[in-house]
Amino acid sequence: MNVYKPVFHFTADKGWINDPNGPIQVNGEYHVFYQHNPYGDEWGTIHWGHAKSKDLAHWERLPLALYPSQERGEEHCFSGCTVLADGSPVIFYTSIGPGERNARTGAQQWIAFGSEDLMRWVKPGINPVLTPQIHGAAVIEEWRDPYVWEMDGAWYMVCGGTHRGKGCAVLYRSPDLLTWEFLGIVADGPEKVWECPNLFQLGNKWVLTYSPDDEDNRVRYKVGSLTNQFRFVEEASGILDYGGREGFYAATTCPDEAGRRLLFSWMPDSARGSSKAISGWSGALTVPRVLSLDEASGRLLIRPVPELRALRGEHGSLQPGWIEGSVELPVQGKALELSVELDLKDAGGSFGMAVLGSPDGQEETLLLIDLAHRTFVLDRSRSSLDPDVHKHALAADLPSNIGGRLKLNVYVDHSTVEVFIQDEIALSARVYPTRPDSVHVRAFAGQGKVFAHAFDGWTMNPCGLGKSLREK
Ligand code: FRU
Repeated sequence: MNVYKPVFHFTADKGWINDPNGPIQVNGEYHVFYQHNPYGDEWGTIHWGHAKSKDLAHWERLPLALYPSQERGEEHCFSGCTVLADGSPVIFYTSIGPGERNARTGAQQWIAFGSEDLMRWVKPGINPVLTPQIHGAAVIEEWRDPYVWEMDGAWYMVCGGTHRGKGCAVLYRSPDLLTWEFLGIVADGPEKVWECPNLFQLGNKWVLTYSPDDEDNRVRYKVGSLTNQFRFVEEASGILDYGGREGFYAATTCPDEAGRRLLFSWMPDSARGSSKAISGWSGALTVPRVLSLDEASGRLLIRPVPELRALRGEHGSLQPGWIEGSVELPVQGKALELSVELDLKDAGGSFGMAVLGSPDGQEETLLLIDLAHRTFVLDRSRSSLDPDVHKHALAADLPSNIGGRLKLNVYVDHSTVEVFIQDEIALSARVYPTRPDSVHVRAFAGQGKVFAHAFDGWTMNPCGLGKSLREK
């Protein structure tokens, strides 16, 4: 068993994965596809892998959904989405080939039709459905990652890209999914490229999410409205998750049958650096999350799905009371959920937890709350004894309304850490603890003491998965 391989997060059994693609609920079952290189643990020859779940907690790996049609000059099936058109599953994705069909100037948007059970996919001869010519005089480069939805009897598509050196989200409309018109650029920003944009409604607002492929690659969101000319008018904006390429990138969403807006994202292994910390496989998907809108502040709320409770195993807790110095939690492991509610008023404004800690403290990952500076820091300086993995700290701004009371949810899974604060702030990261006994959890108060209203931990059971089926 690979010491770094998550057990309750989705991973490929072998090979590389990146973006989650086209999550969708059909007849009660959730399907997620993902960018996948079945031949190696580096990015390359991108296929669409496929998995499904009845409950968003347990997952089953399924045969590949899409593979590059080399006979049609296709080298990669880049990211995209899935919709139901009159009940029939349809994939839209970006087709990449050599030369004319390159990722920078010549990408094309293709369609694939699925069987009722989403297990067999056919790329009809009408492809490509959209080519760069659709933009007329406007030049859109790095054009990819279609996200499609139905509204008022028409289909809409948003794609990511670059226009005049700025990252952008571009909009199209179609009566039938086959013929499309270009509606314009919905929004743009200073980053070089916007990847994987999603545009959807939450309550009476529009939400745009996108992954900026730039030095600061933390996934962003904007909340606002759309004008009649389909321009996004921003009312609020923020960072969907502070992990960026160190733990959270290429997020995508879907509505589910319960009316929730689900969010999935990729947990890259960029943090392995030059190390051979992981070999044979790479990448995991985040735990599924729910997005909702706090109407008053316009901020997005982000919470792990409650269905994850189905994976809880052994429980350990601290009695409500004061934490002074350092206290060990009576639950241990490399796959854990922690749920904590604290009062920080007497804590001199700081509180910390250590996860994936070895008994001698040589290895541990620190989660530090600094109320005075309103920051949360994930300190990875001692996360791993491996000198080649990334060790720099990751930080998040805490909400201004945070007060003294703090709610913290943490998911730890061998080489993944996901932290949720006040249902508003998320930070996901990769860490590579080398020692099998790096399983301890402790809490510590800063200069004062911290009152813990609740301090619970659970070991987490594996999410299932099962054998790989790699037939084409
Ligand atoms: C984001 C991304 C997408 C692209 C895919 C290729 O991580 O670069 O823009 O479609 O990955 O695998």
